[in-house]
Amino acid sequence: MTVAEKDRIEERLSTGVLGQWYVVAKTVQVKPGKPHGVRVLDRHLVLWRDAAGKVHCLEDYCPHRGARLSRGEVIDDNIACRYHGVTLDGGGTIVRVPAMPGCALEGRKAVDSYAVIEANDGVFVYFPSAERPEPCELTLPAEFSDPAWSSILCMSRWACSHRFVYDNFADPMHACYLHADSFTLAFGAKQDVMQIEKRDDGFFIARAGQRDVNLDWTHVVADGTQVYCRLDIPYPTAAGPGGPFRIIGYATPVDEETCLVFFWRFREVSGLPRESWRFLYRATLEPRHWHVLEQDREMLTNIPADAHKREMLYQHDVGVARMRRTLTQQARQQLDAEVSASTRAAG
Ligand code: FES
Ligand SMILES: [Fe+2]
Repeated sequence: MTVAEKDRIEERLSTGVLGQWYVVAKTVQVKPGKPHGVRVLDRHLVLWRDAAGKVHCLEDYCPHRGARLSRGEVIDDNIACRYHGVTLDGGGTIVRVPAMPGCALEGRKAVDSYAVIEANDGVFVYFPSAERPEPCELTLPAEFSDPAWSSILCMSRWACSHRFVYDNFADPMHACYLHADSFTLAFGAKQDVMQIEKRDDGFFIARAGQRDVNLDWTHVVADGTQVYCRLDIPYPTAAGPGGPFRIIGYATPVDEETCLVFFWRFREVSGLPRESWRFLYRATLEPRHWHVLEQDREMLTNIPADAHKREMLYQHDVGVARMRRTLTQQARQQLDAEVSASTRAAG
């Protein structure tokens, strides 16, 4: 591989592999009647909700003179720019130029539009690639639609590459060190060997010596349409009903040095125990969970961006290495497809 090819792969990885779905916001952030601007995958997007509640997503750019559409307003399901009122529909077509009726711009598709799926309090957006311009099918985590599970979504913005967040997920062994003072992650042996297992949708990285004692495993889903991680944190009975605390985590690049993290916190509870868990969670467990997350954030945001150039990995990093290899392969594949598509177009 040439240096230029390596650089292109690095660049793609740092702002996000395309042809995949990413979580870009919490449902509650896209309020009725009010546009929501968000920066993800090194681009600016605007989201808004129409009268029926459906979320639309466009490039956050007014085709007239470039004003941010997110500073505009929602009118009749469309979005109108605040600057001179140019109005676009959810497909990115100009439907009205109010200052000049009959203007030739009307009817022109002027900006990119993005497919949106709302699920379990999160807003997912599809980022097309040259090889896959149309949205691929998204298989959401089974817990999302299983009534036996109850979840609370939390989101944060971290000043580090989303790649560090994925590395962290693929490294269960950090828990008994970094989080040793926490409510739930203080238990178990501090030495172990890691085992990795291939799965149809990604891989499973686990400690060989213990299970269900600490953060002992992570299931990484990297099926080519999305990347997320699933893990369980064993909970003492004092933490209420529902067995272990399950986390489904997604990381979305904002740019090379910033990301949004989305953590769904699950417990397998329904009926009355479900209400009692949700109450207990809000009242006492949530601050504890934030404390643990802060430890991760503080650690990751202080790792130098170029640390990978002088890392000395050992056996426990087998999950980290697999994570990186998986994403690198995806990036390489789509860059190759872009090159062949442009060669075909030129020929
Ligand atoms: S810049 Fe948006 S209407 Fe003029
Ligand atoms: Fe952690």
